[in-house]
Amino acid sequence: MQLNATNCNLRSKKTDCLVLILSNKDDQNSIPQSVIDNSVEYLGPTIIELITKLQESGDIQKKLGSSVIINYPNGLEAQRLLIVSSGGEILNEQMFLSLAKTIGFKLKSLPVKDAVIATQNINVRGRDDVWQAQKISQVLGEQSYFPDSLKTIAKHSYSLTKVLLAISSGQKLKEIKDACKLGLSISKGMNLSKYLGDLPGNICTPSFLAKEAKKLAMGHPQLTCKIINEAEMKSLGMHSLLSVTAGTQQPAKMIILKYTGSTKKKLKPIVLVGKGITFDSGGISLKPGAAMDEMKYDMCGAASVFGVFSMLVNTDLNINVIGVIPAVENMPGGKAIKPGDIVKSMSGQTIEILNTDAEGRLILCDALTYTARFKPKNVIDIATLTGACVMALGSHASGLLSNDDILAEKLETAGRTSSDRVWRLPIWSEYDAQLKSNFADMANIGGRSAGTITAACFLARFTKEYKWAHLDIAGTAWKGGNAKGSTGRPVPLLCEFLIEEANND
Ligand code: BES
Ligand code: MN
Ligand code: ZN
Repeated sequence: MQLNATNCNLRSKKTDCLVLILSNKDDQNSIPQSVIDNSVEYLGPTIIELITKLQESGDIQKKLGSSVIINYPNGLEAQRLLIVSSGGEILNEQMFLSLAKTIGFKLKSLPVKDAVIATQNINVRGRDDVWQAQKISQVLGEQSYFPDSLKTIAKHSYSLTKVLLAISSGQKLKEIKDACKLGLSISKGMNLSKYLGDLPGNICTPSFLAKEAKKLAMGHPQLTCKIINEAEMKSLGMHSLLSVTAGTQQPAKMIILKYTGSTKKKLKPIVLVGKGITFDSGGISLKPGAAMDEMKYDMCGAASVFGVFSMLVNTDLNINVIGVIPAVENMPGGKAIKPGDIVKSMSGQTIEILNTDAEGRLILCDALTYTARFKPKNVIDIATLTGACVMALGSHASGLLSNDDILAEKLETAGRTSSDRVWRLPIWSEYDAQLKSNFADMANIGGRSAGTITAACFLARFTKEYKWAHLDIAGTAWKGGNAKGSTGRPVPLLCEFLIEEANND
């Protein structure tokens, strides 16, 4: 999909669909006069009269997202006019996103190839028109993904290929154009992440992910890709990671992606470590059958790292980023690890594996130890780590746990800006004590209480050398039920964080 911004005359603009978002500025109780004022120079009296009538008759309500479509509108060159209400009160970030989604859904349901969206005069608390342009672009781009790559007859019909944001002469065209490009690049990253997440475990294996990483790096000189195989893992001492792969036929892979976008070669990299369990059966501590298919999503941390690198190569962001993706399948079998087994991690610390279903931390701890060699500025790991996180935060926020307050605050801010929010939980030593083992340096589980925190306490034992944050995305990375599917989160959060970092370096 193409997306750009332009100054144009809405009355004479030829398009399949002109989208007019009614303004929510000024008075909060009546239909804002500025809707009409702002549009006068563009739309002409016939259309203004029409809008007024539609408002009076109640066809357009003050409710956010209420809309009317008019075919062959008098006085316009557009084939259709889609009028959407912005609700009449000041919006927050989530409301604006839901407005953008509504517009996307409407356009999806119509046989339109191109659309022009007039967005001026929307009031979002604390967010300007550049922010709004980026978000609309992201949402529309995101909606071009359909999870039907494995259907023999693709069901979806999405004809929209070109969108223009029409802005008024008072707005900064260059900045808004850049915001469109950025939003679209983030959506492409999200869509790659969704695609990989939605693929089933029999296709999306560790080897498949390794191939995808090579593919992503191909043709982009700033991006290199290296794959570490099991023999190399062995000589590196990654016996914790290797213990998880013992039960499967699929060879484990560790994917290293390196993006060098900064002209300052010496600049310390940000390292993103993504949990890549391509299927989590639980291993010998086998999971119950209900919804077990959803454990194909246990590589969504890895998928989000792919998404971020897609954004990086599409925007040439001025920053250095390294991706570390341990990709492993967790299966039971004659050679699988058993509860009670003790392994030595790459760090030298020994781990008593009391539950083979707590496998994410077992692959991440070795990936995190390996990561120290990059002398990172910050390390962020992203993992569908605990069911407990779904209980604590549901699907609205990812869990955030960190050994550095400044890094944590940056992620909280990026979460608000991107509307891809996080909520911080503590990693106090009182919780860490739950990991005590009688036979090894630590156990891989910490009992029934505070499961998200004890998982992070486990990881914290491997991240002492650098500033680190852990994102538990178990509740945010995918949706279950009828709307089952990957969400592309937390790609927007991570992209926003990196964009801020690039601007401040
Ligand atoms: N991948 C799961 C976590 C998960 C479960 C995410 C359900 C989303 C939905 C992880 O590997 C796991 O199995 N964790 C266990 C840990 C427990 C054994 C300490 C869990 O959360 O039950
Ligand atoms: Mn598990
Ligand atoms: Zn898992």
